[in-house]
Amino acid sequence: MAQFMTPEKSSLIKNITHFTPNVNDYHPVIIRLEEISKVYGQGDTVVHALNNINLTIEKSEYCAIMGASGSGKSTLMNMIGCLDSPTSGRYYLDKIDVSGLSETELATVRNQKIGFVFQQFHLLPQMTALENVILPMVYAGISPSERRDRATEALERVGLGHRINNKPNQLSGGQQQRVAVARAIVNQPVLLLADEPTGALDSQTTQEILDLFTELNQSGMTVVVVTHEAEVARNSGRIIWFRDGQVIYSHLSPDELHSVI
Ligand SMILES: Nc1ncnc2c1ncn2[C@@H]1O[C@H](COP(=O)(O)OP(=O)(O)O)[C@@H](O)[C@H]1O
Ligand SMILES: [Mg+2]
Repeated sequence: MAQFMTPEKSSLIKNITHFTPNVNDYHPVIIRLEEISKVYGQGDTVVHALNNINLTIEKSEYCAIMGASGSGKSTLMNMIGCLDSPTSGRYYLDKIDVSGLSETELATVRNQKIGFVFQQFHLLPQMTALENVILPMVYAGISPSERRDRATEALERVGLGHRINNKPNQLSGGQQQRVAVARAIVNQPVLLLADEPTGALDSQTTQEILDLFTELNQSGMTVVVVTHEAEVARNSGRIIWFRDGQVIYSHLSPDELHSVI
């Protein structure tokens, strides 16, 4: 089309296209997956865990990822969390092309930008709640006194200011998961990733964790949660539905969930 335009018109269009990306300042993309595939094994045992995924998630979104067991949800989370690299495709995290980074660089990105929460809490049993939350800051090179202050503050934020010196076995499942959330947010990540975070919790404590996620999201954190529980997914703003390593629905609203379950 450009070849039919006068030079003046084409330069005007250039200016307009230059101007348009400013719209993105209000909805910056934090996760951009381009044709991401992950293949495990080879020959007869080959598994296409992720099959050509294209997906974007904007800053401050709260997404839930759902789909049958084995559909690739955890593989996707490991990819988004820079714990694993794709077999092919590109991944941009907060505008950084992480597909090209070394192991050491990936570890730095993980430490600075991402907080993880898992179903089984993964707290170190011999350490207190405070020591568990301090741990990610040791790698981030923060001074010991500041580490202590920030860990205490993070534990207060999750409602555990009175239990900082307890070890995991002195805490309930819900409290342990809140320690894990405090540990995940203590380095002030842009992204909180949670894989089945309420899978080991009863419904009362599930609600406490969901309230916490809502509050963190409202304070501007991007939250991505993998779950098989409709109640957990409905707490988010957007549901991404997986099947056989592919995104079947990328933007389901919580109200639309009943039509696919
Ligand atoms: N490390 C691995 N080696 C081989 N196959 C794997 C590995 N991790 C996952 N898979 C396979 O990839 C597919 C997707 O797994 P996963 O991402 O764990 O699914 P989900 O979390 O949705 O249950 C499954 O078929 C699973 O068996
Ligand atoms: Mg899984």
